[in-house]
Amino acid sequence: MQTTFSLRQFKPDDLDDVIRVNHTCLPENYSAYFFMDLYERYPATFIVAEIGNEIVGYIMCRIETGFSHFGLFGISKKGHVVSVAVLPEYQRKGIGTDLLRKAMYGMRLYGAKECYLEVRTTNSAAVRMYDKLDFKTVRKAKAYYADGEDAHVMAKKLK
Ligand SMILES: CC(C)(COP(=O)(O)OP(=O)(O)OC[C@H]1O[C@@H](n2cnc3c(N)ncnc32)[C@H](O)[C@@H]1OP(=O)(O)O)[C@@H](O)C(=O)NCCC(=O)NCCS
Repeated sequence: MQTTFSLRQFKPDDLDDVIRVNHTCLPENYSAYFFMDLYERYPATFIVAEIGNEIVGYIMCRIETGFSHFGLFGISKKGHVVSVAVLPEYQRKGIGTDLLRKAMYGMRLYGAKECYLEVRTTNSAAVRMYDKLDFKTVRKAKAYYADGEDAHVMAKKLK
């Protein structure tokens, strides 16, 4: 199996493939409009991973203005990871890590000072990846998910 991957910005032709990856990997699914809206507003943080001609992963984010999770900057811009996923057969090859890194680079281009995300408390694979990328748990969000599961809110300062 070919495993060399490359990353690039999402383009509208990728929509069906990204939705397929999302449905394969996550219970949180969105309308086509939702994906396209994030792409149109924050294209530098909507990244896909390709192996050959196949889209095997994606990350999409938004930029928000609000209180810092670190209490350092007062009101500031924050990059929010809305969704990230890699197809099961391509996991554990560094794709998720690189998607995060490239999205965080894009967040900085929009002036974000920190990055944050929610992750299911039972999702040890994702929590481990965020730990390795130096994210810290800043709070727990009770019953954050539709099925009642709690989330860790994890955040990282962007240099
Ligand atoms: C979370 C996810 C995006 C990680 O993608 P990935 O490409 O496999 O991640 P990486 O290969 O960059 O892994 C980075 C590190 O995370 C940890 N990790 C990733 N998957 C793991 C697993 N299944 N078990 C234990 N640790 C895991 C490891 O420490 C790994 O480093 P290592 O392989 O050198 O040990 C992927 O597992 C996924 O799509 N899961 C389903 C969707 C999801 O949960 N999205 C996140 C919602 S918040």
